[in-house]
Amino acid sequence: MSDYAIEATDLVREFKNGPRAVDGIDLGVAPGEIYGFLGPNGAGKSTTVHMLTTLLPPTSGTARVAGYDVVTEGPQVRAAIGAALQEAALDPLLTGREHLRLQASLQALPRAERNQRANELIARVGLTHAADRKVRGYSGGMKRRLDLAMALVHSPSVLFLDEPTTGLDIQSRTALWDEVARLAREDEVTVFLTTQYLEEADVLADRVGIIDQGHIVAEGTTDELKAEVGRPTVEAIPADPEDAVRLADMLARFGDPCGSTKGVAVRLETGETSLADVVRALDDAGIEVANLWLHQPTLDDVFLAKTGRSLEGSDDDEAEPSRRELAAEPV
Ligand SMILES: Nc1ncnc2c1ncn2[C@@H]1O[C@H](COP(=O)(O)OP(=O)(O)O)[C@@H](O)[C@H]1O
Ligand SMILES: [Mg+2]
Repeated sequence: MSDYAIEATDLVREFKNGPRAVDGIDLGVAPGEIYGFLGPNGAGKSTTVHMLTTLLPPTSGTARVAGYDVVTEGPQVRAAIGAALQEAALDPLLTGREHLRLQASLQALPRAERNQRANELIARVGLTHAADRKVRGYSGGMKRRLDLAMALVHSPSVLFLDEPTTGLDIQSRTALWDEVARLAREDEVTVFLTTQYLEEADVLADRVGIIDQGHIVAEGTTDELKAEVGRPTVEAIPADPEDAVRLADMLARFGDPCGSTKGVAVRLETGETSLADVVRALDDAGIEVANLWLHQPTLDDVFLAKTGRSLEGSDDDEAEPSRRELAAEPV
C-alpha cells in the first residue's frame, strides 16, 4: 500500500479520432495536501480528473485513489471521494437545501441524518441565507459553493474540484479558497484542484503540477518552481539622478545587471535574502533611493520557461500582474 491519497503511474487517455489528451502522467499527492493542477484550456486537466474519479477508464497506466485502484475498485474509490466537476448540473428549479437533501439520499445517508447534514453544509459554505431560494436565482459564486457542499455530503477523504472558480469574481473566488483551505487544514481532506489561474495555484496549493498538452511539465511547491526558473531581481531608482552610476556599481556587487526602464536593476545572486544587505549597503554608501522594488518570479514565468508560451494570455478575465512588486520604503 502506498502512502499517497492519489497516485498515478504513466496514466494515458487517448480519445478515438482525438488527441492523446493525457499522455503519461505520474502523480503522488499526500493525504491532506492541496494539489493544484494548473494548465491552459485543453491541457488535459478534466480528462485526468475523470480518470481519477472513475468516470473515464484510462487507455493505459494505473491510478489509485484513497488506496483503491480506479479500474478494478471503482465502487470503493467512489465511496471515498467527492467531486465538483466542471459540467456540474444543478436544477434551477430546486433550492439549495433541496439539492443537498437529494444528494444525501443519493449517497444513502440514513434518513434521520439527511436534514442535519444538509443544514451543516449549507452553513459551512455560507449559503444559509439563500438555502430556500431556487438555484435559478443564485450567482455563479453561490452555485460553485453549492457544488462544493454537495461534494462534501458523505464526508469524503479526497476531494476533486475541476476549475471551481473559473468565471467567478475575485471576492467569490477568495471565499471558496478559504473554504477549501479550511477543509484541508481542519478536516485533513486531500484536495485535487484544477485551475487556469496562476494566482489560485499560488495562493491555495501546497504543491503545483503544471500540465500542458497532456504532460506534466513542472511540479513542486510554488516557491520551488519559481526558484527553478529564476532568481528575484532588485530594482532601484536613485533620489538624485547624479547617483545613478554609483548606484549601478553598488548594486552590481549583488548580481548581474538586468533591464530596468526607470532605474537600475540586478538579478540577485543569492536570492531574496540579500535584499537586507542591499538596503544596508545603500545606507552605508549614503545613496538615497526614491524607490526600491523586489521582483519575484511568478508562476507565469515558470509556465513560459517550460512551454515557451504565457499562461496569462489564455485567461479570459483579469490577469495577475506579470511581476509582483513589493515596494519598500525609500531608504
Ligand atoms: N470526449 C472527448 N473526445 C475527444 N476529445 C476530447 C474529449 N474530451 C476531451 N477531449 C480533448 O482532450 C484534450 C484535453 O481536454 P480536457 O481534459 O477537457 O482539457 P482541460 O480540462 O485541461 O481544458 C482537448 O484537446 C480536448 O479537446
Ligand atoms: Mg477542463
